[in-house]
Amino acid sequence: MIVLKNINKVFETEELQTHALRNISLVVDQGDFISISGPSGCGKSTLLSIMGLIERATSGVYSIGGHDVTSLTLDQAAELRNEHIGFVFQSFNLIDEISVFDNVALPLKYRSKKLTKSEIKQSVESCLQKVGLSHRAQHTPNQLSGGQQQRVAIARALVTEPTILLVDEPTGNLDSKSGDQVMQLIAELHQQGTTICMVTHDPRYADMAPKQVKLFDGELLGTVASTQPLDQSA
Ligand SMILES: Nc1ncnc2c1ncn2[C@@H]1O[C@H](COP(=O)(O)OP(=O)(O)OP(=O)(O)O)[C@@H](O)[C@H]1O
Ligand SMILES: [Mg+2]
Repeated sequence: MIVLKNINKVFETEELQTHALRNISLVVDQGDFISISGPSGCGKSTLLSIMGLIERATSGVYSIGGHDVTSLTLDQAAELRNEHIGFVFQSFNLIDEISVFDNVALPLKYRSKKLTKSEIKQSVESCLQKVGLSHRAQHTPNQLSGGQQQRVAIARALVTEPTILLVDEPTGNLDSKSGDQVMQLIAELHQQGTTICMVTHDPRYADMAPKQVKLFDGELLGTVASTQPLDQSA
């Protein structure tokens, strides 16, 4: 469904050239849950940004659902991103000035196909229910705990029913208990059929994914099948 073939990414500044990714090839099938781990600076976020159509690869081919998306214009990339990609960041990136409900509804407002108010309400409420936060819809994000804010960010990523959910260090800003709860939610979403690619430093969380990819200095060290049961986080 999602195919990366020989992806390279080179960042160039005036004095410096950084080869962040080297010949990355990766296939993500529908329903996959893949973890990407590796040391700081090895290229994990860069890989996720390319998959999320935020960054463009320097060379290589990237396709989603059989369509080559390697060399889109910025506008085309933005439209496809809104259609296919749900992104969750370490730092939540929620807007504190508006309610949880409005944060989750935001991606729907950027759709080319306009939805009615009641369609928006239905989608937002169903996503808030999925993450267990229906009772916090009218709060603002800064009135919630870190774990709750990350669950709002996950609801916002799911509201467009994306082809793939891309998650970068979802537990990085959380204490271990909230981190476990967020990971439990991600495992549940996988069991319900959501396709997920997740970057994590934590080997316990990386092991929860049936497919695990390791990056080292921008190179892929292979995919392994998980030996762990999925719902092991307690
Ligand atoms: N916009 C940029 N301009 C120049 N170099 C960059 C840029 N973004 C990333 N890099 C470089 O590319 C390499 C990979 O960075 P990346 O952020 O993907 O690492 P990471 O594996 O996500 O690290 P961390 O675990 O610390 O988040 C690093 O050497 C980084 O300095
Ligand atoms: Mg990173």
